[in-house]
Amino acid sequence: MSILVIRSAQLNAPAVPTPTSLGHLKIRGLNEKDLEIAAANPELHLTAEFARAAKGRGDLACGAFIGDQLIAYCWRSERSAPETNGFWIRISPPHCYAYKALTLPAFRGHGLMAAITTRLDAEYLQRGLSSRVSFVNSSNYASLRAGDKAGYETIGRILLLRWSQRYCHIRTKAVRKIGLDIYRPSSTDHTS
Ligand SMILES: CC(C)(COP(=O)(O)OP(=O)(O)OC[C@H]1O[C@@H](n2cnc3c(N)ncnc32)[C@H](O)[C@@H]1OP(=O)(O)O)[C@@H](O)C(=O)NCCC(=O)NCCS
Repeated sequence: MSILVIRSAQLNAPAVPTPTSLGHLKIRGLNEKDLEIAAANPELHLTAEFARAAKGRGDLACGAFIGDQLIAYCWRSERSAPETNGFWIRISPPHCYAYKALTLPAFRGHGLMAAITTRLDAEYLQRGLSSRVSFVNSSNYASLRAGDKAGYETIGRILLLRWSQRYCHIRTKAVRKIGLDIYRPSSTDHTS
């Protein structure tokens, strides 16, 4: 069983400033070239296939750079995005979905993720959306802490039960209310 903590924040909160503890770094959107270079670095866990599919769905990524080196990133979707083990998350307006966040181990603990996360908000505000939603595994303390700094508040949970090729999930009321869903395209599921 997994417990997914669902968190949400308004997009119009002030952006978290770029941390200064790592010296000069830049936070900006990831372009095709960045993604190509990132795919060659296994530490970043960002394959060319993943990036191509995400871009194809219209998703955006933002990252932190020291010079040309990408050291942290996060993706954002307006519709649906893959999670681990073949599961997908689906969302709809006025919410967008923040997913696949990573800071390289050597650069963790400097507040990069909050700065990257809030940097993407302006783009999605312009697209007419008003909130971002994300989920964190309940045991991922570092991610929960990073989320706090990005203004997230916990709104509910999804309990995910798996056995063999089957699964079922239970969403708390607030999660059902915002229309966030988890699904696995090719398997039998039971939803509530
Ligand atoms: C979760 C993650 C993206 C946070 O990124 P970050 O840029 O380090 O975020 P922050 O700097 O705000 O640090 C968040 C917390 O990480 C913990 N942390 C600090 N230094 C750390 C280190 N060197 N290594 C691991 N965790 C550390 C601290 O608890 C910190 O909170 P605190 O500052 O209140 O003490 C990063 O830990 C990571 O890439 N983890 C692996 C991938 C992952 O779990 N992604 C999220 C999936 S939902």
